[in-house]
Amino acid sequence: MSGLSAELKQVFKEHGDQARPVNQAAVLGAGIMGGGITITNAAHGVPVIMKDIAQEQLDLGMKTASSQVDRLIKKEQMTQEQASQVLATIEPTLEYEGFDKVDGVIEAVVENLGLKHKVLDQLEAVVHDDTLIATNTSSLRIDDIGQHMKHPQRFVGMHFFNPVPVMPLVEIIQGTRTSDESVSTAVTWALKMGKTPIVVQDCPGFLVNRILTAYTRAFLQLVEKGADFEHVDRSMEAFGWPMGPAYLEDVIGIDTGSHVSDVISAGYPERMPHIENDAFRLMKSKDRLGQKNGKGFYEYTPDDSGRPQKHSSAEAHELLMEIQPDGQKDFSVEEIQQRMMLAMITEAVHCLEDKVVNSAEELDTALLMGVGFPRDKGGAMRYADSLGAKAILEQCEQYRHLGIQYEPTATIRKLAETGGSFYDEFPTGN
Ligand SMILES: NC(=O)c1ccc[n+]([C@@H]2O[C@H](COP(=O)([O-])OP(=O)(O)OC[C@H]3O[C@@H](n4cnc5c(N)ncnc54)[C@H](O)[C@@H]3O)[C@@H](O)[C@H]2O)c1
Repeated sequence: MSGLSAELKQVFKEHGDQARPVNQAAVLGAGIMGGGITITNAAHGVPVIMKDIAQEQLDLGMKTASSQVDRLIKKEQMTQEQASQVLATIEPTLEYEGFDKVDGVIEAVVENLGLKHKVLDQLEAVVHDDTLIATNTSSLRIDDIGQHMKHPQRFVGMHFFNPVPVMPLVEIIQGTRTSDESVSTAVTWALKMGKTPIVVQDCPGFLVNRILTAYTRAFLQLVEKGADFEHVDRSMEAFGWPMGPAYLEDVIGIDTGSHVSDVISAGYPERMPHIENDAFRLMKSKDRLGQKNGKGFYEYTPDDSGRPQKHSSAEAHELLMEIQPDGQKDFSVEEIQQRMMLAMITEAVHCLEDKVVNSAEELDTALLMGVGFPRDKGGAMRYADSLGAKAILEQCEQYRHLGIQYEPTATIRKLAETGGSFYDEFPTGN
């Protein structure tokens, strides 16, 4: 929480005043996310029921929980005795018993709308009318998931990032029928779990993945126009990103990343039109899925401790030539950085104009904590302010011929004219 402004801390305090306390939690689904959310609750003093439909998944969830506490013991952040106490507050179950006593439930079953409708139906039948029900969906709309609920005002999105115990951000998503009290309860619960919650409105991709999609689409366009993806990666790493966009996609999994990018792009058909020569789609069609199967943009072999080591892949380079109709082209580091970052900045400004997020600071906080935005640049809007809106507008004019993603927004035009800053235009706490 350090580094947040007094205004944002005040916003959290006001949510705390309106929130209902969550002293007993439940998590539905003991997979990658459910297991992580369970241990995060337990480690922060919130007892939790973890329900799944498969015993082996529950066993896996408990194994994940144990390895998390072992990690804390090794780091001397927890004693063996405390670890045993924490694990004892997790109640794995295949039934809904005890759900009548929970204050909040987080649904983390597989990403399938029909299944989510079914489990919400079951949940509403067993919990109190005022129990908060949250979904950890990554790509479905909150309004769509909650459309058949009896009490949709208590339904909210709590989008955690993987791995949950490590990643500090939670996007709190307010659907059109979610009450303010439910938003405040979710914000306060996330704070109790040691996370930094950022409230966003329900839209395709929410905040972080929507902005990240604009950025990865700029990468796809550079590759289509002949850029060498390794040169793009090195350029963005030189800018300060922990990994370049091709490597990032390999780590996420190209099938997952490509699906997310397609779903979000479909939600903004004008600004994110179909990309004809899409490197993600090509990689996926050739079963190059990234680290998970050892080959994607790069190839991977395990090191002595089993961690994947990345190597250049002649095959990937050759493959990509198929979708470079004008052949290969050299791009300067400066042009690559400008095109990638400008696409991100313009989408970020759209999010602020659309009121998807309340302030420039909250947007930046989400990018710093959710996608590893270079810390020294302070986030997309802080970086934009360091360049100045006039310079942003000039870059937009320079790259506008490449597509609508570089069209300057109304706010960019206005601030270029007045000399104002994005942080003053979108202040915290209003
Ligand atoms: N994996 C990620 O990186 C990530 C990140 C953010 C959000 N999410 C979202 O989190 C949710 C879960 O994803 P995951 O990666 O943990 O999936 P997963 O496949 O690892 O786990 C899903 C679990 O749900 C269980 N399940 C299925 N039907 C159930 C039911 N009726 N009741 C209870 N449990 C049931 C399965 O047995 C499985 O254990 C999805 O909505 C996904 O989009 C995933």
